Amino acid sequence: MMQGQPDAGTVPAISLNDGHAIPQLGFGVFQIEPRDTVEATTRALEIGYRHIDTAEMYGNEQEVGRAVARSGLDRSEVFVTSKLNNGFHRPDDARTAFDETLRRLAFDYVDLFLIHWPLPTLYDGDFVSTWQTLIEFHRDGRARSIGVSNFQPHHLDRLLAETEVAPAVNQIEVHPYLTQDDVRRYGTGHQIVTEAWSPIAQGLVLGDPVIGAVATKVGRTPAQVVLRWHVQRGDVVFPKSVTPARIRENFEIFDFELDGEDMDAISGLNRDERTGPDPDTFDYVPG
Ligand SMILES: NC(=O)c1ccc[n+]([C@@H]2O[C@H](COP(=O)([O-])OP(=O)(O)OC[C@H]3O[C@@H](n4cnc5c(N)ncnc54)[C@H](OP(=O)(O)O)[C@@H]3O)[C@@H](O)[C@H]2O)c1
Repeated sequence: MMQGQPDAGTVPAISLNDGHAIPQLGFGVFQIEPRDTVEATTRALEIGYRHIDTAEMYGNEQEVGRAVARSGLDRSEVFVTSKLNNGFHRPDDARTAFDETLRRLAFDYVDLFLIHWPLPTLYDGDFVSTWQTLIEFHRDGRARSIGVSNFQPHHLDRLLAETEVAPAVNQIEVHPYLTQDDVRRYGTGHQIVTEAWSPIAQGLVLGDPVIGAVATKVGRTPAQVVLRWHVQRGDVVFPKSVTPARIRENFEIFDFELDGEDMDAISGLNRDERTGPDPDTFDYVPG
């Protein structure tokens, strides 16, 4: 390895505002069928991923827990996130839902637990009491860290003004077509780490000629270039794949760097284009 180059196998840890740390690269399991989740997660753990991002909504918490248990790794070596589903925002429902998440994972704690969506048009716009309930889970030690997902700055303002604990992370859609400069800047200003979901926009950005040109220049794949762009911006990422070669490819992003020109070219692709729902109007509650 050349001096000064990052080590291919070392995933940096990002410090959270509560004293814990999170591996900057993880493995996302959204849209992985439960029957495929043990195998895909096992493959990721074998390759070296030590951070798994699941959710009650994904229907595969049990399989994630099983893969971690079977890996031979100590529970403390794997950072696992789950999320509160949209039907459970009322405090008593959130308490029951969190118990169920731990039961399905067969863990006595999660590393990070998030409110999946703010749902400002539901529950009388009250996501603050939901957040207070996550604070209970943090205080009793069953959620080492707590955070939110899909929160806009004006939602975060309310949590900061009305409660005593700031979220450790805000997990939002970010990729080259949706660079989210405002929400990310808010996070930086308030010590809230940004996690970038759908980091390659589910593949949508990989055919972009600008990304292709950078990939050719640095001798990497478009997916590696985009994931590297996220990492150099300081965000946490957890690309999803059920394809073993891609799971490995997505992990090999710590032995090269993008220069300022490449970074700017990719950031310049922003079109404020969401692939997912708008957090201010999203009101889906699974039946
Ligand atoms: N909080 C939220 O509301 C929220 C919403 C969405 C996602 N997330 C989280 O973010 C994670 C990642 O987002 P995502 O799953 O939506 O999308 P993504 O990671 O941006 O993209 C996944 C898609 O890209 C393909 N892919 C993966 N690596 C590739 C590569 N190296 N080359 C070419 N294609 C590749 C995958 O195909 P194959 O699997 O067929 O290989 C899959 O179709 C999720 O799994 C979940 O943990 C959170």
